[in-house]
Amino acid sequence: MKITVSEYCYDNSNKVFYELYMVNNECVLGRLKLNDSHSKCKVMGMKGMLLEIMNIDVKYVRKGIGGKLIKAGEKMMKKRGMDYSLLYCLKDSWMEKWYIRLGYKYYMEHDEKNNWYYKMLK
Ligand SMILES: CC(C)(COP(=O)(O)OP(=O)(O)OC[C@H]1O[C@@H](n2cnc3c(N)ncnc32)[C@H](O)[C@@H]1OP(=O)(O)O)[C@@H](O)C(=O)NCCC(=O)NCCS
Repeated sequence: MKITVSEYCYDNSNKVFYELYMVNNECVLGRLKLNDSHSKCKVMGMKGMLLEIMNIDVKYVRKGIGGKLIKAGEKMMKKRGMDYSLLYCLKDSWMEKWYIRLGYKYYMEHDEKNNWYYKMLK
């Protein structure tokens, strides 16, 4: 199965988002949305982007597509001069463990259920 990653950017009332799609034979298998206008994306004089939403087609989960999309997203952020990647996820979940395995570090509590995580890109 040959998978390709494509990306585009659009402007929605001063907010800039990027979406990366994992496609195969014109079918979208997964999507990662990045947001570079979140206030937490500009801390300590550094620039970051938020990994905002990720969905993988239920038929294709646990095949490594999510991991590939995150790596492609990080590469894209680096190319655009970002210093770090940011996300939040459910506390004590398998996703939290997964992001830590991918190099993300605890930043601070987001709310009762979620924590913020970041990864330096340089
Ligand atoms: C969360 C999600 C994006 C992960 O994407 P994916 O393509 O399935 O992820 P990968 O195949 O790259 O696997 C990620 C890791 O988590 C593990 N994993 C995936 N689904 C899991 C599950 N349901 N329970 C436990 N572990 C799981 C995998 O084993 C893998 O670990 P490893 O590669 O280090 O062994 C996808 O499952 C999804 O779209 N879920 C529904 C939407 C959602 O919850 N999004 C959350 C972010 S907004």
